[in-house]
Amino acid sequence: MSLLEAAAQVRKNAHAPYSGFKVGAAIRTADGAIYLGCNVENVAYPEGTCAEAGAIAAMCAAGARDIAEVAVIADSPAPVTPCGGCRQKLAEFAAPDTPVIMGTVAGVEIRTTVGALLPGAFGRDHLAKEA
Ligand code: THU
Repeated sequence: MSLLEAAAQVRKNAHAPYSGFKVGAAIRTADGAIYLGCNVENVAYPEGTCAEAGAIAAMCAAGARDIAEVAVIADSPAPVTPCGGCRQKLAEFAAPDTPVIMGTVAGVEIRTTVGALLPGAFGRDHLAKEA
């Protein structure tokens, strides 16, 4: 099963009664392990979480930290791109050249990278204080 197919499978478990927009995400780490997430909405709308955030949480809970590849899928006219917040979350655990596959249920697929999605990312170097 491809990473995008894994994302499509977990998408079916999304809890999206408010937007009606189900999203699935799959993260592969260098050792081949795959971590899955789906969006989980809440009647208090801001409390909802994105599919990518769920996959990142599953990865961290398993003790893994380094993302090698990401796949995201939704039933959208064009492939869904991670929201701004999720781009920052992905950048925490993925190098700029990490591939991101974005797909639609209908079979459209495009590829980019974490760095292309978040140019000029705020990073750890910014936390360093000048001497
Ligand atoms: N959503 C995701 O889970 N990931 C994305 O990359 C884009 C948006 C979710 C959030 C919300 O539950 C629904 O899609 C509509 O915005």
